[in-house]
Amino acid sequence: MFIVAMAMVAFSLPLRVVLAENAAESLMRFKTALTNTDPSLANWIPSTNPCTGNWAGVLCYNGYVWALQLENMGLQGQIDVDSLAELSYLRTLSFINNNFQGSMPNWRKLRTLMSLYLSDNHFSGQIPNDAFEGMESLKKVYLSDNSFTGPIPESLASPRMVEVGLDNNHFSGAIPAIDSQNLQVFNVSNNDLQGPVPLSLLKLDPSSFTGN
Ligand SMILES: *[C@@H]1O[C@H](CO)[C@@H](O)[C@H](O)[C@H]1NC(C)=O
Repeated sequence: MFIVAMAMVAFSLPLRVVLAENAAESLMRFKTALTNTDPSLANWIPSTNPCTGNWAGVLCYNGYVWALQLENMGLQGQIDVDSLAELSYLRTLSFINNNFQGSMPNWRKLRTLMSLYLSDNHFSGQIPNDAFEGMESLKKVYLSDNSFTGPIPESLASPRMVEVGLDNNHFSGAIPAIDSQNLQVFNVSNNDLQGPVPLSLLKLDPSSFTGN
C-alpha cells in the first residue's frame, strides 16, 4: 500500500512543468554567455515556459526543446555548450549569419544533435580531428563562410553524414576519402585544398570542388 501511494505521489508531480523550468534555466544561462543580444531575445522570460511562451528561435515538440534557431541576430560572445547539453532532446542548432568568432566550440557533449548550422560567422582556426567523434546522430554540418584553417577533421568524414558544407573557408590538405553512401552534399569549394577528388565523391556536383 505504502509503495503504491508513493508511486501515485510521484506520478502526480507536474513533470512537464519541472522539465520546462529546467529548459528555461538552461536557455537563460546560454543567453547570459552571449554578448550583443538581439532585441528579439527579450521575449525569453525566465518565469515562462520556453515551449509555450513564444521564445524567439526556440522550437519544441511535446514540451521539449528540439531546436534552437538563432539566425541573423548579430550574436557574439560565448556559446555555452554545457547549458545546451542540458536540453536532452536537442536535435538542431542553427546560428547562421551571426558574429561568433574564435575557435570551434566543443560540441561533443550534444550527444543527440543531428544538425549543426554555423555558416556565415567568423569562426577561425584549426578544428580538432576528433571534434565530432561520438556524435552518433550527427548527419548535417554546415560550416560554410567562416575562416576555418587546417585539415578537414576526420570525424566529419563519417559514413553517417548526409550533408557537409565546408565551402568558403581556408581548409588545407587533401580531400578526405569518405564512404558516400548517405552523402548528398559535400561542398568544399573555395578552400586551399590539394590533390585529387576521391573516387567516392565524383558522383557529387563539380561545383562542390571548385576554387581549390
Ligand atoms: C558549393 O559552394 C559554392 C560556394 O558557396 C556554390 O557556389 C556551389 O553552388 C555549391 N555547390 C553545391 C553542389 O552545393
